[in-house]
Amino acid sequence: MSRLTLTKLRKMKQQGEKIAMLTAYDASFAALLETAGVEALLVGDSLGMVVQGQESTLPVTMDDMVYHCQNVVRGSHRAFILADMPFMSYATPTQAVDNAARLMREGGAQMVKLEGGRLLRKTVEQLTTRGIPVCAHLGLLPQSVHRIGGYRVQGRQENSAQEIHEDAVILQQAGADMLILECVPARLGKEITQALEIPVISCGAGPDCNGQVLVLYDLLGISPGKPPSFSRNFLDGADSIPNAIQAYVSAVKKGQFPTLELSY
Ligand code: KIV
Ligand code: NA
Repeated sequence: MSRLTLTKLRKMKQQGEKIAMLTAYDASFAALLETAGVEALLVGDSLGMVVQGQESTLPVTMDDMVYHCQNVVRGSHRAFILADMPFMSYATPTQAVDNAARLMREGGAQMVKLEGGRLLRKTVEQLTTRGIPVCAHLGLLPQSVHRIGGYRVQGRQENSAQEIHEDAVILQQAGADMLILECVPARLGKEITQALEIPVISCGAGPDCNGQVLVLYDLLGISPGKPPSFSRNFLDGADSIPNAIQAYVSAVKKGQFPTLELSY
């Protein structure tokens, strides 16, 4: 297999080398990103907002995810590819296994990502014991935006921070091989990263995680609406899109992105 593996990503954590991840939705960007040194491409359901123009990620379907995953896989040959399970595609463990299998078999993903905590313990066990690698996603859960009442920082209070930390440990125990932490205080990002053996990727979780991820169009400054405050427009000051991506990779590798000012 010529693609980067989970073994390699785990080794990067152990050796303190930062993992650069970005979202990708099509073949052209997938090729460009891996050439710039991005190790992992996330086919995120953020495509609902930045590609489809939806108000949230909720309308995204399994067919949408499979289609974009195929495009990203065709455009790349080295990067590690993970794909989001869309809203309600993993409501039961059985549904989760069927839909994750589609993302892997039809889409070509190497890993699937699910939003949620301990409630997903059985689901994660079912997937991983069947050979489907899982990336957990804790903190701000965009598929729950209507319950949360907006996109806001999670884990600011002591009890909610502890709940997120416990969820991370429970999901690692259930077999999760990676964790994305979205919009939590940098202090909590650091604490969870140190407590877990699996790579922890920060999406607004501060500089001390094992890697960083941004929505590609936020990095390029072309997302409609206001970008999250933890993101940065890397095209600002770069003279081309490839150079902007390279600036991101370099900043992540050197631990220069995000700064604490860009964190919670
Ligand atoms: O869909 C997405 O882009 C994501 C990242 C923001 C983590 O889930
Ligand atoms: Na997502």
